[in-house]
Amino acid sequence: MMMQNEERLFQCSYPRPIHGILGKSSMLVVLGEDHKRLRNLALALVTSTKLKPSYLGDIEKIALRIVGSWHGNSNDKGKVNVIAFCEEARKFAFSVIVKQVLGLSPEEPVTAMILEDFLAFMKGLISFPLYIPGTPYAKAVQARERISRTVKGIIEERRNAGSSKKVDFLDVLLSSNELSDEEKVSFVLDSLLGGYETTSLLISMVVYFLGKSAQDLELVKREHEDIRSKKGKEEFLCSEDYKKMEYTQHVINEALRCGNIVKFVHRKALKDVRYKEYLIPSGWKVLPVFSAVHLNPSLHGNAQQFQPCRWEGANQGTSKKFTPFGGGPRLCPGSELAKVEAAFFLHHLVLNFRWRIDGDDIPMAYPYVEFQRGLPIEIEPLCSES
Ligand code: HEM
Repeated sequence: MMMQNEERLFQCSYPRPIHGILGKSSMLVVLGEDHKRLRNLALALVTSTKLKPSYLGDIEKIALRIVGSWHGNSNDKGKVNVIAFCEEARKFAFSVIVKQVLGLSPEEPVTAMILEDFLAFMKGLISFPLYIPGTPYAKAVQARERISRTVKGIIEERRNAGSSKKVDFLDVLLSSNELSDEEKVSFVLDSLLGGYETTSLLISMVVYFLGKSAQDLELVKREHEDIRSKKGKEEFLCSEDYKKMEYTQHVINEALRCGNIVKFVHRKALKDVRYKEYLIPSGWKVLPVFSAVHLNPSLHGNAQQFQPCRWEGANQGTSKKFTPFGGGPRLCPGSELAKVEAAFFLHHLVLNFRWRIDGDDIPMAYPYVEFQRGLPIEIEPLCSES
């Protein structure tokens, strides 16, 4: 109800200090017509990205690069290695989003530069908002300025190159006359911010839950072996293959339901709102808590159990009882990209490695979900090449 009545009864309202870091043109900050304008552009960009012939191939190449790097120097079958999975998933999600948004490959030096600044930026988002040199908050504000300069530089370069062909996200963004350069930079930051930590956490959750459920892992593995058996070893996955990843989609949905990557969103009542026997006074902050709904046993049978099969035959999209990507006019524009990333990464993971969670690491929310030890996993190669 709250998500559907955005701008009528409730309004997006993130804490003030976050505005200082995100900037006044961020999609999470802007309201009304300004939000609509930015959002329309986001949707247009998502559509154009999906139409790009290299869309899926770009994601898969990055997955192959990361999973392939775990073979190390030795391709010995049976050799066990320990990797910090969250870090690997972050590398993957960051490389994908930077490629999608800015057209940059992981090996370009500017990618590493943006990543470094971006990590400082992320730290500041959850820090105490004190602008004193040296505090994480101040570092985040400065990091944002640096990323902003880097992105402006990339935009300038692209503009000078003068291509009129709209080949990627940035070209479409550049050709928009509706946004100032500041808004364009902000838009790029929103996409990086929205698409990085969330997606990498989703992939870590999938690996965590599958690591605890041999039966589900077996079903996922069979699905991917079946898809690969009909393709050449080196052949890239296509959209038809993605459609066949049905059980994988159930696993992703279930990881989203149990993992609650975005636990709640921030809203404010615009007028007095009566709901059932409650009165929410105008101006009050309201936090719709998705995890409370996702783990509610009257809405989801065996709500505390990871059971991907519950999604068989169910509506795959969001519904009132399943809102990992929010809802209404602020529904996440990147949900499809996140799911493709998770599915493709999983494809190469299950075909190449067996894994076991090293020790016990559980995801904790304070307030953002995190694996305290970075999810160390023991991996063992199944074959010599990925
Ligand atoms: C598992 C991955 C993801 C999760 C769980 C997630 C979750 C969410 C949620 C809950 C919202 C709504 C926020 C609100 O209503 O206040 C949102 C908005 C947003 N997300 Fe995502 N997201 C994910 C991936 C992505 C990706 C890959 C991108 C970028 C391509 C992205 C970009 C955005 C943007 C720009 C918004 C703001 C939309 C608006 O205000 O209209 N997200 N996301």
